[in-house]
Amino acid sequence: MDLYDVIHRRRDVRAEFTGERVPDDVLDRILTAAHAAPSVGNSQPWDFVLVRDPQTRRRFHAHVQVERDTFAATLDGAAAERFARIKIDGVLESTLSVVVTYDPQRGGPAVLGRHAIADAGLYSVCLAIQNLWLAATAEGLGVGWVSFYREPFLADLLGIPPGIRPVAWLCLGPVSHLQTVPDLVRHGWRTPRPLAAAVHADRWRADENHPMG
Ligand SMILES: Cc1cc2nc3c(=O)[nH]c(=O)nc-3n(C[C@H](O)[C@H](O)[C@H](O)COP(=O)(O)O)c2cc1C
Repeated sequence: MDLYDVIHRRRDVRAEFTGERVPDDVLDRILTAAHAAPSVGNSQPWDFVLVRDPQTRRRFHAHVQVERDTFAATLDGAAAERFARIKIDGVLESTLSVVVTYDPQRGGPAVLGRHAIADAGLYSVCLAIQNLWLAATAEGLGVGWVSFYREPFLADLLGIPPGIRPVAWLCLGPVSHLQTVPDLVRHGWRTPRPLAAAVHADRWRADENHPMG
């Protein structure tokens, strides 16, 4: 698979995990790819917690259900009906989970390039996540990002020290197949925005052809 092929094949996976084993060398290649991401000041502020323990995953899954209900309670009418049909995680079905964290102290106190933009460290973690996601896709595996959780709950569940933030719970593993159309598009939750509406020339302006942005 070439790079563009992997980029366009990548999907957020919820329902297609098979639970089959991930060979150690494959997992090692995927984590090595994540660890090769660019980072502000070369601070590499990420860590990866590999969660295989079924009890930990069940506890996290129960918490996700509560947060799902919290979000569902904010919806009504057609949106509530649509959301009820959407699966938002594969925590129990995937082979393992990878929790990616951010340590703002790493490489400090003088992180080159972060003095004006504190979030640059967080951006770096997201690039590691994207590398992981693309590498997993190239290996024929699926990844699902779960963000229906409260950070203090997850920090407590995994014993993450104070000051270090969990950024993502990623479900990882073999899949029956990857959908060609994102789940939220298939379920009519959100229509993709065309590239032309996102590209601006020289200065920001709302596109006349896409006034809703
Ligand atoms: C920061 C972030 C958080 C996300 N959280 C969730 C989530 O909690 N549950 C879920 O089902 N998908 C989640 N997603 C996946 C998005 O819904 C998905 O990327 C988007 O609908 C586009 O689909 P695709 O990734 O298959 O192209 C998340 C994605 C990102 C980048």
